Amino acid sequence: MKILVINGPNLNFLGIREKAIYGDRDYDYLVKLIKEEAARLSADVTVYQSNHEGAIIDRIQEAYLDGTEGIVINPGAYTHYSYAIRDALASVENIRKVEVHLSDITNRESFRASSVTAPVCDKQIYGKGMEGYMEAMRYLCR
Ligand code: DQA
Repeated sequence: MKILVINGPNLNFLGIREKAIYGDRDYDYLVKLIKEEAARLSADVTVYQSNHEGAIIDRIQEAYLDGTEGIVINPGAYTHYSYAIRDALASVENIRKVEVHLSDITNRESFRASSVTAPVCDKQIYGKGMEGYMEAMRYLCR
């Protein structure tokens, strides 16, 4: 199973940003957990992070061409308003997609409760911290 994990804006600042919400583990630790889970699942994983909307879209389009079978995406704040990322995800119909959020987006500011990207994903996982990424990978490998 070829999996691409995409993290959007500010996720590279894990361990620095709003620790009360996102915890004190840093981005490198998240990448380490993802790679360990991939090894357990015998999956081939690539982890990508960008703070830029267009770069995320470019990477989703590249996934269509490089044989990626599953995408785990945390679009960060783009979740709530990027129709462009939504359209990019919708374009790659042959790839299964899981949207992940570290925090419980249903229980924070009202603007976070809605996701424009989740309707074009197969599943949404939130509020489980870094474990949400592992659950998403297991779901894709099932
Ligand atoms: C987030 C939730 C978003 O609302 C926020 O903008 C983020 C992180 C999460 O993982 O909980 O950057 O996607």
